[in-house]
Amino acid sequence: MRRIRIFDTTLRDGEQSPGVNLMGIEKIEIARQLERLGVDIIEAGFPITSEGDMEAVQAISREVRGPVIAALARTHQADIEAAAKALEQAKSPRIHVFTSFSPVHLQYMLRKSEDEVIAMSVASIEAARRYVDDVEFSGQDAMRSDPAFVFRAIAAAIAAGATTINIPDTVGYTAPEEFAALIRGVREQVPGAKDVHISVHCHNDLGLAVANTLAGLAAGADQAEVAVNGIGERAGNTSLEEVAMALATREDFFQMDTGIDAREIGRTSRLVSRLTGMQVQPNKAIVGANAFAHEAGIHQDGVIKERTTYEIMNPQDIGQGETQLVMGKHSGRHAFQMKLAALGYSLAETEQRELFRRFKALTDKKKQVTDRDIQSLVEDEIYRFDDAYELVDYQVSSAGGAPSTATVGVCTQGGAAGAVTREAAVGLGPIEALYLALQRATGLQADLKDYAIQSVGGGSDAQGEVRCSIDYFGQTFVGFGVSTDILEASALAYLHALNKAAAVRAQAEQHPTGKEAI
Ligand code: KIV
Ligand code: ZN
Repeated sequence: MRRIRIFDTTLRDGEQSPGVNLMGIEKIEIARQLERLGVDIIEAGFPITSEGDMEAVQAISREVRGPVIAALARTHQADIEAAAKALEQAKSPRIHVFTSFSPVHLQYMLRKSEDEVIAMSVASIEAARRYVDDVEFSGQDAMRSDPAFVFRAIAAAIAAGATTINIPDTVGYTAPEEFAALIRGVREQVPGAKDVHISVHCHNDLGLAVANTLAGLAAGADQAEVAVNGIGERAGNTSLEEVAMALATREDFFQMDTGIDAREIGRTSRLVSRLTGMQVQPNKAIVGANAFAHEAGIHQDGVIKERTTYEIMNPQDIGQGETQLVMGKHSGRHAFQMKLAALGYSLAETEQRELFRRFKALTDKKKQVTDRDIQSLVEDEIYRFDDAYELVDYQVSSAGGAPSTATVGVCTQGGAAGAVTREAAVGLGPIEALYLALQRATGLQADLKDYAIQSVGGGSDAQGEVRCSIDYFGQTFVGFGVSTDILEASALAYLHALNKAAAVRAQAEQHPTGKEAI
């Protein structure tokens, strides 16, 4: 059995998804969850690009001690120094140096000859090795490049001290057989390649990222670069959960394993989806809402008689299934604690107390509280960070054909105890009225960019989950809210996004020279 290293780039390449803007504290939360999931390497960011990225990589380096922490750098001295500074406190730091290999990148982006690219790469790898022992080297767009140049550049990188060589299919252009042939060629023909780790990094422009990654691994690569839910530039990166579960489910065929704890996959996927605001498509393999739903009568009949007739994985093994404890109005604190434990949560006493209060309030409105309801409550509770504004109450009036009106009460953390700011507004519909009233109450003007609602499970008493994203002075913030009342869920989601904008504004006021300043 060959051990494959999982290199997670959700926080770097994944964060490059259009509209995604994670706050530092959210990146740390995701990094902690990635550690629980069992990834080997976390690419935490690209420190030269912003003060925010620098601080996030520093914080993750300090707080997440299990996996290797990687920081990205171009072949520039300043980038290497920034990456090294960001990783100073990491237990196992890695600098990931990248350049480009393809003629089109060399001509239009780098404006360098092949020899110049090699010379810059060698100098940068040597510089990185003066800071850390673990240096990864990548040449973008390797699959639209001349293999002879790719091999020559990789040989020079290994001689300069690179310990992992990554082959990126940056624009998702390759096909499995072609990719496998290149990886085999690197392993067999490049001097020194048998003694370093070979990594594959695929993008999904043709929907082939996972297939190409698996082909690359089968051809001799031993590191897969992936992102949770397959998020990333354009059509995204290779999906972590698909690669991990393909290797686990077809271990007999691939003969490879990873350190991934599959039971953490569901929770990791939901966390990333929630914090990035990128919803998972229902038919997405492994983590989509329909991934284990059986619609056709023949299928349902088969699954009832024997689950494996139509299921190749057990949803509970990947943290997606319902457990048997049914929760409702009569469930006590102890049963609730047992349910939390069964769902894999270990929470502080104060969090458990607050959650139990919210659970009880929910049972007043909903007869049966499902696992998804509880997961939604827990995630809503533990992934909220020091909100400046809290919703106290709201009232909305809406009638067909007439404008809607809304009144909201909002209290401010740190404000006078019990002081509530009340504002009212009129809008074309109830959501617009509500959001305008919240803008007035918080004094934060933000444009709504996106709004989506979905039910948590079925039934007319199901909770509604609202995600919205706002634009606040050119920055995107994602908000999330859940309630049996969809107007309340909408208000909570918008206020959540406003709270993030307020936090970034407060940070910018404290460090006015920081690049995050609004
Ligand atoms: O897709 C790509 O080429 C990259 C590199 C920086 C590795 O993300
Ligand atoms: Zn990439």
